[in-house]
Amino acid sequence: MTQLSSDDVRARVQAVLPGVRQDLEDLVRIESVSADPERASEVQRSAEAVARLFRDEAFDEVDIVSTDGGAPAVIAHKAGPLGAPTVLLYAHHDVQPENDHADWDSPPFEPTERDGRLYARGAADDKAGIAAHLGALRVYGADLPVSVTMFIEGEEEVGSETLPSLLKQHQGRLRADVIVIADSGNWDIGVPALTTSLRGLVRVDIEVRTLTHAVHSGMWGGLVPDALMTLARLLATLHDDEGNVAVEGLHAGPAADVEYPEARLRAESGAAPGIEWIGSGSTVERLWTKPALSITGLDAPKVAGASNTLVPAARARISMRTAPGDTTANALACLVRHLEAHVPWGATLTHTVVDTGEATRIDATGPAYDAARAAFTEAWDGTAPVDMGVGGSIPFIAEFLEAFPEASVLVTGVEDPDTRAHGANEGLHLAEFERVVLAEALLLGKLGG
Ligand code: BES
Ligand code: MN
Repeated sequence: MTQLSSDDVRARVQAVLPGVRQDLEDLVRIESVSADPERASEVQRSAEAVARLFRDEAFDEVDIVSTDGGAPAVIAHKAGPLGAPTVLLYAHHDVQPENDHADWDSPPFEPTERDGRLYARGAADDKAGIAAHLGALRVYGADLPVSVTMFIEGEEEVGSETLPSLLKQHQGRLRADVIVIADSGNWDIGVPALTTSLRGLVRVDIEVRTLTHAVHSGMWGGLVPDALMTLARLLATLHDDEGNVAVEGLHAGPAADVEYPEARLRAESGAAPGIEWIGSGSTVERLWTKPALSITGLDAPKVAGASNTLVPAARARISMRTAPGDTTANALACLVRHLEAHVPWGATLTHTVVDTGEATRIDATGPAYDAARAAFTEAWDGTAPVDMGVGGSIPFIAEFLEAFPEASVLVTGVEDPDTRAHGANEGLHLAEFERVVLAEALLLGKLGG
């Protein structure tokens, strides 16, 4: 294989970028919302589109795989030079629901460019991760510097439930020396990052019942507690007055040594004017390495049409982020113990686990990290990557590391502080995307030689 110079790589990125952009746009037009059973055929169509892209890159053994009724993932291989390391490139082709179309400034599944961003659901999270891999591969064409395995998951946004069995079934094909997970982001526009810790996730639905059936609120109010008020009191016990998670037994750890300026936190968080931060500790600890607990859904009668009855039962979804170093088994046990100990007035409490995904702490040292830092610094014209944590979760990482403890894991990605992943007007910063592609291409070159 002829070694490409850094200038050659830059020139080739320029050359392949328009085609990559086109392929990304075609992917985001597919409504691969994994949480929506009515769009399962779209998730399938998206897996087929992804598989086609790798077949067109002359990958062999391109397969769409699924297990236990899970969403389709794509596995593909392309061999590099004899003796070169194997690099597994991960991204996911499923997306979050687009929610209310009225909140979007352009149709969610119609890629639209405005002011240097490409807007659409999945334009960043995480179809741009697929596109970044594709771009880096196209830089080398038939002359890959390393052997490459692609793993493009189809159910990341719904908790990767069948991932463990997929990994088990295809363990032989997924073995790799280095894995690159393009599903996080960079520190700021113009400042790259490597993500070195992620929180885990435990989602639990709870139901509180106080009556066997609804009754007149005038006749029985004052004696019998209604389920909504009871649920509200229970939920209120989950934080202390400062806003720290009050569940006992959860782990918390120190965060990466990064200063997150207050003005950026204000601007990027979407916090409404006057909102106070909750919790204690440094802000990045609160975001990355302490547990967080949110209520993400409630089942209760609507205000419009609410009648004067005592509501017999009410439900809430609890979404708890676990700190790196904790396990979801421990966190779940602590949460359930807390709920059972605090449910007031003899109400009946039931719970169902929705999903769990383990947190990750990465040892960001060794040759793969040296190569990544050099590649990123070059791609960002001399600006070295920041080691950062993120508060979100990628269950794949812990699952993969359990199966392949010797592998080096690099968590990269296309997101920037204003990507709005999961929200309305999700958008990819196109100039940063080009750097992400360049960085990955340079990285593959360094890993190979
Ligand atoms: N890309 C995100 C993970 C992420 C979040 C990276 C924030 C960097 C910053 C990923 O697609 C995601 O949203 N994951 C889910 C996983 C869950 C369903 C287990 C999450 O974090 O909610
Ligand atoms: Mn993602």
